[in-house]
Amino acid sequence: MIDFDKIPSPCFVLEEGLLRRNLEILDSVQKETGAQILCALKGFAMYSTFPMVKEYLPTCTASSLNEARLCFEEFGEKAHLCAPVYLEHEFDELTKYTSHITFNSLGQWDRFKQSARNAGLSCALRINPEYSEVETDLYNPCMPGSRLGITANKLDNQLPEGIEGLHFHALCEDSAETLQNTLKAVEEKFGKYLHQAKWLNMGGGHHITRKDYNIELLIELIKNISDKYDLNVILEPGEAVGWQTGYLVSSVQDIFENDGVQIAMLDVSVAAHMPDCLEMPYKPKVLCASDPVKGKPTYRFGGMTCLSGDFIGDYSFDQPLSIGDKIIFDDMIHYTMVKTTTFNGVGLPAIGIWTEDNMFKLIRKFGFDSYKDRLS
Ligand SMILES: Cc1ncc(COP(=O)(O)O)c(C=O)c1O
Repeated sequence: MIDFDKIPSPCFVLEEGLLRRNLEILDSVQKETGAQILCALKGFAMYSTFPMVKEYLPTCTASSLNEARLCFEEFGEKAHLCAPVYLEHEFDELTKYTSHITFNSLGQWDRFKQSARNAGLSCALRINPEYSEVETDLYNPCMPGSRLGITANKLDNQLPEGIEGLHFHALCEDSAETLQNTLKAVEEKFGKYLHQAKWLNMGGGHHITRKDYNIELLIELIKNISDKYDLNVILEPGEAVGWQTGYLVSSVQDIFENDGVQIAMLDVSVAAHMPDCLEMPYKPKVLCASDPVKGKPTYRFGGMTCLSGDFIGDYSFDQPLSIGDKIIFDDMIHYTMVKTTTFNGVGLPAIGIWTEDNMFKLIRKFGFDSYKDRLS
């Protein structure tokens, strides 16, 4: 059990035991189906944990030159790459860190096919099944006019020569039942191409490590599609790797009242350190706190930047808060560290690990250089 008194504030802290639990679940799907599950770096790129991730997952999926290089240098494997657009001046370097590459348009394929094939990469097209159950447009790759993926009407009868794979990403925090519906649309629109491909990457957004996820159905779907079309199946979740593996530890710095609202100012920023809470938006769980309860001490948490919307709330506690009290935001490992900014010059939270031996290991602290490095 993690001892939060031992964690400095502010700090992202991952519990190794929880990460291993997720990896074991993902690996059980690999073992049952023969599919490969890759770690999507855009969601989870805490490379100090890669030695453990490597025990279970074969490699990572990257969406940029930097992510591909991180995979190559820190994971020790070539990445699968899927980016909305590739840049001419980066392409040769990209191929050094990559084994599989997915093109988002026929134009990008035409432009880079020679270099990709010369470098021996296995090439794929990203398809857009025009079906998604994602309700928030910000996270919906299949919204009308989407720039992500090729729609079926743009393809000839045959896949272009040299294309070995197909890739779709149309899910976000979704169930196996949603994958089943999505696969129906993929088969309806792209069935004849599935017969021509060697591999199918079903993207991310599979919430496999969530408690109520229907793993049996996922296994059945993977087996069916891979048998029917004689395909190797690949999944590339990010969130499911880091899902509920740790916390953002913060502490109360000031408390005051405005318009009857008790405000507790923290040493973190919602905008800079947990931006998805504002983008999605969603209200994260805080340990030892509940949604507002009449009669209980209740606070709105304020972030450190001057952005008016840099707050999250309201939460009730059994006892009034005091300056210095730790406030622990749950499930803050995926899509946080990869998205932090130093807006307003705020410092980045440290990064640490609560080990399987019940010890705290501080991995990294950030200082002035992390802010200055992005400016000139
Ligand atoms: C192409 C692609 N693959 C994988 C992922 C990872 O998705 P998730 O972290 O939701 O599993 C994303 C997320 O946006 C994506 O765009």
